[in-house]
Order: sequence, then C-alpha cells, then structure tokens
Amino acid sequence: MPARIIENSNKNIQSEKLIFPPEKEKSMQSHINVESKYTDMYERSLREPEKFWIESAAELSWFKFPKKALKYSPNSELGIFQHTWFEDGILNVSFNCLDRHLVNGKENKPAIIFQGQNEKEVKSYTFKELHEEVCRLSNLFKSYGINKGDRICIYLPVCIEAVCAMLASSRIGAIHSVVFGGFSAEALAYRINHCQCKIVITSDVTVRGKKKIFLKKETDIALQECPSVEHVLVVKKDPDLCEMNPHRDRFYHEEIAKMSPDCSPEPLQAEDPLFILYTSGSTGKPKGVVHSQAGYLLHASLSHKYIFDIREDDRYWCTADPGWITGHSYVVYGPLANGCTTYIYDGLPDFPDPGRCWKIIKENKITVFYTAPTLIRSLMREGESWPQSYDLSSLRILGSVGEPINPNAWMWYYQFIGNNHCRVIDTWWQTETGGIMIAPFPGCHTLKPGSASRPFFGVEPIILRDDGSECAPNESGNLCMKRPWPGMMRTIWNDRDKFIETYFTQFPGLYFTGDGAFIDSDGDYWLSGRVDDVVNIAGHRLGTAEIESALVNHPSVAEAAVVSVDDSIKGEALYAFVTPIRDCIPDETLRNELFTEVRKIIGAIAVPQTIQFTSALPKTRSGKIMRRLLKKIASKKYEDLGDVSTLADPLIIKNLIKGIF
Ligand code: WT7
Repeated sequence: MPARIIENSNKNIQSEKLIFPPEKEKSMQSHINVESKYTDMYERSLREPEKFWIESAAELSWFKFPKKALKYSPNSELGIFQHTWFEDGILNVSFNCLDRHLVNGKENKPAIIFQGQNEKEVKSYTFKELHEEVCRLSNLFKSYGINKGDRICIYLPVCIEAVCAMLASSRIGAIHSVVFGGFSAEALAYRINHCQCKIVITSDVTVRGKKKIFLKKETDIALQECPSVEHVLVVKKDPDLCEMNPHRDRFYHEEIAKMSPDCSPEPLQAEDPLFILYTSGSTGKPKGVVHSQAGYLLHASLSHKYIFDIREDDRYWCTADPGWITGHSYVVYGPLANGCTTYIYDGLPDFPDPGRCWKIIKENKITVFYTAPTLIRSLMREGESWPQSYDLSSLRILGSVGEPINPNAWMWYYQFIGNNHCRVIDTWWQTETGGIMIAPFPGCHTLKPGSASRPFFGVEPIILRDDGSECAPNESGNLCMKRPWPGMMRTIWNDRDKFIETYFTQFPGLYFTGDGAFIDSDGDYWLSGRVDDVVNIAGHRLGTAEIESALVNHPSVAEAAVVSVDDSIKGEALYAFVTPIRDCIPDETLRNELFTEVRKIIGAIAVPQTIQFTSALPKTRSGKIMRRLLKKIASKKYEDLGDVSTLADPLIIKNLIKGIF
C-alpha cells in the first residue's frame, strides 16, 4: 500500500495526499533508477547545456555530426525565441526512424501494428516493410514533382498510411501538415490554403462506432477553394464507390505499387522545417506551429525513452490520433526513432463495448499505455468490471496527457488498469513544446495523483505572478520557460510577429505557456489548466475566439461569447452566450442552425453543449466582454461574481442569471 503523508494546509492542494514512491526492485531495470541520477543529469543539462546536448545528439544518426548544440543570445533583444539547435548538423528523420534499424538487427521486428475497429482488421509492418512502403510513397511524391520544402497535407484517420505519409514527407524533405479527421471541410481548406499544400492524402471513409465519416467528400468540398492542390491520394477502405476526379485523384495503394522500394533519404539541415501543425490560440484563427528536424526528433525520442522507460521488447500503445501533436511525437517519431514497436487503434474506445481498450491491451500484451484523462474518465464511468475481466498484467507504465488528470481518475487508472503495480506518468506539454516538458521519471520519482512532477532535461520552468515577480512555493501563477529546449517550436508559419506576440511578450525574455501551475514544497509541479481563452474539450484544444467567430458568421447573430464549464467526463464543456441581431426572436431553429454552423466551420468537436440567448453581454465600460463573469454564470456560481463595478450595465447580470432574454 502507498504511504500517506499529511501536507501543511494550503488551499491549493488537498490537505491529505497519497504518494507512491518507486519500488526498488522494479526500478533496478529503469534507465534512471535513483533520484540522484535524475538530479545529476537534469542539473548538468542546465549547467553545461552544450556538452549535455552534444552528447545526447549521439542518440541520433547523422550524415554530418553537429559541432555545436545551441546557438542563442539570451541577452539580445530577440532573447529566447531566436535559437537554433545543432545548426551545422545534417541528418534525415525518416532515416533515423527506419533505415538505421535495418542494420542493427531490427529489420524483422514489428515497427507498427494496426488494429481497426473491426476486430479482424489487423495489419503489421516490420521495420523493413515500413521502410519499403515509405520509400515507394517518397518516390511517388517525387514523381509528382514534390520537392524539399513543399507542403503535404495529410487528412486521414488513424492508419499506417498516415504514418507512411509523415515519414515519406520527411524522407524527401517536404513539410507535412496533418489535419485531424474530425475537422470540417472549411477548417481543412483554411489549413491547406494557409501553407499552400500541393497534395492531400485522405481516405474514402473512416468509421466511428456505427457511423461512417466520408473524408474524401469533405476533401472535395474543401478543394473547391484550394487552388494550390495538384494531387489527391485516396486510401481506399470501403468497397463502395468513391468519387474521383480523373485529373487530380489517384488511389494510394494502386500508385505506390508501381514505385520502386528504394529511395535514398534527402540530407537535411538540422533546422530545416519538418512539419507544421495547426493549433488553436486565443485569436480567431488557428496558428501553424512549425517544428524543425533535429531538435524536435531528439526531444521526442529522448523523452520517449526516459519518460516511458522504453526497453527493447516493449509493446507500446499510444491512443492519440496523428492529427494531434501526441500522435506526431509519441505515436510516430519518438517510438520509431527508438526502434520501438508502436501500436495504433482506429475506432471508438467503447466499441463494441467499454472493454475494448482493455481487450487490446490483453491480446497484444501491451507494456506501456499512453492515453488522455478524458478516455480514462469515460471508461471509469462504466465500472471496473470491464478492466477486471481482462488480464492486464503485461502493463508496466501508464501515461496520461492532454489536460490535468484529476486525482480520482488517476487513482482509478492506478488501481484498476495498473493493478496497483504500474507507474502512472502524468505528462505535461504542448503542441508548441514538441515533446514532454514536465513528467515523473518512472524509476526514480515519487508519484502524486494529480501532479506532473519534474521537468525534463534542459527544461527550466518558472512560475510568475501577473506582475512578473516569481511565485512562492505552493502559490499558483503563470507557467513560463526560462530558456529554449531542443523541441521548442521555431515559429508560426508565415507569421513571425504572431509567434513573438503570442509567446514572448507577456513576460519579456521568457516563453509563456498559457498554463497556470504551482510548485509544491517538494519541488513537484501541479498544472491547473489554461489561463487564457483556450479550452480543452475531451483533450481537443480549441480557442473560444474561433468558436465565437463561427457563431457570429450566422446572419442572425450580433455577438457571441464562449466559455467553458467543468465537465466530469470531457474535462471542460462549451457554453455559448449568443446575442441575436435586433428584431430577431431566438428559437430552437436558430439554436440548431448555430450548432450546424459551428459543425460546418470547425467540426463536431467544437459544437457547444449549451447555447444561452441573451439580449446583451456583460461588458466593461471600455467595451471588453467580461468572460470571467460569464464563466461563473455558466457554472451557476452566482454567489461569487466578484467585482462587477466596472460593468457598463449591471442589470444584464440579473437577466443572465434568470435566463431572461
Ligand atoms: C495544453 C496543450 C501535449 C499534447 C496534447 C495537448 C493542456 C496537456 C497536460 C497535463 C495539465 C495539460 C495544457 C496545455 N495539457 N497536458 N498533463 N496536465 N494540462 O497538446 O493541444 O497543444 O494542448 O493542454 O493546458 O497548454 P495541445
């Protein structure tokens, strides 16, 4: 049984907490099995970054080994955001994920194993087979005239072809932009146009439970507005006919079969861009986060190795979709660079029943499982009899990512999935950070349910009050980073000003994460969620401004404000306050039209749970919508509305509470 400790009373933390120290016997096999080893390495990564990172760079295979790790001038006007890593190094990411494993005895080791929603749909590729398919696809890209630096859009469900497309893009030095299959045609078109993709790889259909989603149809709608796209490759999954444009569209499998299975990897500069991934911020439009080759790959692979304590025979399953950063770093690049077998599953976690994930773990003897709190909470609701009917004893490490994991869900994960013997690893990071930034090392850190524990090598966090002074222990504030790390984003595609403004202006000289956090008296980090207008719905990151702009797109809407309320499964749920234009009496038809509008412009994931019509929104005298107030009203926390003296019209609050239009 875990030890219990009593913390000094502090309103930030629970007064009584559970702690789970590492078990000595099991830790012996860990890469880092005593805390002093972590501390030594961590401190060295900050004290002698140059030596530390050049040594770490030897984990990758280079065509030209870099002479220098980090270049930046912390005191220059450009500060932390002007940095390069391994600048004179030359390498290829797909070579690191594939070719090098063909000569170290792993050629017949499974690289990727796919499980479809339909139980019989299983596909497995060895490193050699994956290498072959990636080479064929690279040759196809080349035959289409796609060159180094060109952009490739990948709009696919979870499938091996998505992984091949990412690796083939990296092989030829193109830049991929993966768009989550849950986004609508309009959202897809914005992303394609913003970075001018030349090709889209999609599939005819994908299944979600009993529902079919027609990705190719969405693509066709999107492409009416996307003149840059010359080619479409379609991964055919369904026997039904799929409409094809003979001048533009080809079937993926037919085309790659014609190609040679050899393609030499393009030698690339360490700082050449590897991919763009669009993510939401506090502004109305998504931002194209740019990651580069070497720093990103090193961060992803090194963190994957240490945080999941990866061993040669691991069977590793991360449930993320390739459309999100977790799918990039911890389904594809990190595991494959480490020569680790990566499992992927395309389907609902509760289809045909809530035991599906546990069944996959049992049947494949998964050793490391990495998922999101929202999945844990939704399966927790179904009761422990589901996991208890499967033998889950193969599991060693259980990861969590995407949002804060509440102690209840943590404990359930620990007890019923991990059977009280696995390490539960809460990993905090962001699309922008490229890889894990704060997480416990399984072999040496004491776990606390709800805490993300310690910073990864080279990561130097600081927590600040709004006025820029440093918070005391146990005091919540704004989480910032004091220096660049290898996996840090390099810019926002085509918008350097926005890059600087978004991340480096609130706290000059520092990277601002947008998250709130505090450090407890032991030095462990606790993350509390966003402090800006970004929300996290079932692990999907959305900007409230984006949803508001979709709502006001409807001709009957004058104004909209979207906030989030706590949700026991999704973490947060969306609540929209909508003011119709003068003379419009809002009704159910308008409400349904608004749901449809958001689905059309962004996708189903962004549709608000609740729309409350209001004759006006609470604003300050200077015209700023008071979102904090709206959040409290939406959460029915009326007693604690705080200072409303700056409101232009205090009567609005009464009406909002009463739900009067
Ligand atoms: C935001 C980043 C990191 C990959 C998936 C999400 C929240 C993420 C945690 C965690 C508390 C977390 C933060 C962060 N977040 N992981 N372990 N504990 N919050 O990537 O879509 O870029 O979202 O997700 O608020 O800023 P993303």
